Amino acid sequence: MEPLVSISNKPKTTAALPSDLDGAILRLKKERNAVILSHYYQESEIQELADFVGDSLQLAQAAQKTQADVILFAGVHFMAEVAKILNPSRTVLVPDLTASCSLADGCRPEQLAAWQRKYPDHVTVSYINCSAAVKAMSDCIVTSSNAERILRSYPPEQPILFAPDQHLGRYLMKQTGRTGMVVYPGSCQVHEIFSERELVRLKMDHPCALVLAHPECEERVLQHAHVVGSTSALIKSAVESAATELIIVTEPGVIHEMQKRAPHKTFIPAPAEGGCACNECPHMRKNTPEKIYLALRDMVPELILPEDLRLAAKRPIDKMLSLS
Ligand code: 13P
Ligand code: SF4
Repeated sequence: MEPLVSISNKPKTTAALPSDLDGAILRLKKERNAVILSHYYQESEIQELADFVGDSLQLAQAAQKTQADVILFAGVHFMAEVAKILNPSRTVLVPDLTASCSLADGCRPEQLAAWQRKYPDHVTVSYINCSAAVKAMSDCIVTSSNAERILRSYPPEQPILFAPDQHLGRYLMKQTGRTGMVVYPGSCQVHEIFSERELVRLKMDHPCALVLAHPECEERVLQHAHVVGSTSALIKSAVESAATELIIVTEPGVIHEMQKRAPHKTFIPAPAEGGCACNECPHMRKNTPEKIYLALRDMVPELILPEDLRLAAKRPIDKMLSLS
């Protein structure tokens, strides 16, 4: 008989788990005709189990294309929503329904509606890190990979309300020179706690290191970066640059892929304020191999969206994909 171990991490059930969890997940994946999509912020073990690992834009595109019957989404809630919006005939499973995002939580539909009433001439462009309800109120969605290009597609005189990430919004204003842009005051709890002081200290200790940062970081941190870009852009720079030492100012989950593609290089995660390890996204990290196994075994939790909301949220996502 197969030896059993009990669930250690926030069990949904008291049922026992197989000792070879990875093997059991791979077997279930085949049985269910399921695909595992994982964001780069997931723990290494989950990235290794996944059929596809990507950033927000790549995951949306992969979800749209998949022929699998079941999409197990190892990411956060809004990402699984995008998968369902783009591929409604598939069953979308989320290992932990409470895996949220501070950006999505900080911009409820009624809050955005108040901003839209305040700026009636502005077109709403929303970062993909928002709920389906907020997407449905937006003209176009962007990710950090395509935001600059999409903003440039609007006439320069068109005023824009950018939601919900103020730091990405301000970075984009600077990059595009768009002055007629209002930014909603949301932020990513992970990227805004990087310490400028610790980063400067780290740069002094490693004078040849290349600093790579995500635009969800505050401007005072971004000013010290050599490269600012989306998750996939940062991975590409890490691999292609001549630098052999790199300081990574984003969720440290990305280092797994960087190290895989450039094993001879040294990656140094930038510290958060107070030197804590809180720059791991607490929402992304709610997913565990145990929860993935249970989701595939029991086919729950499933992400369900009302059809009218799905269609309304799809319109600005389709616009984004056509411009990407
Ligand atoms: P990207 O995957 O688009 O770089 O975004 C990072 C992020 O914070 C995901 O929640
Ligand atoms: Fe949201 Fe920030 Fe976590 Fe990304 S890293 S899911 S933006 S809280």
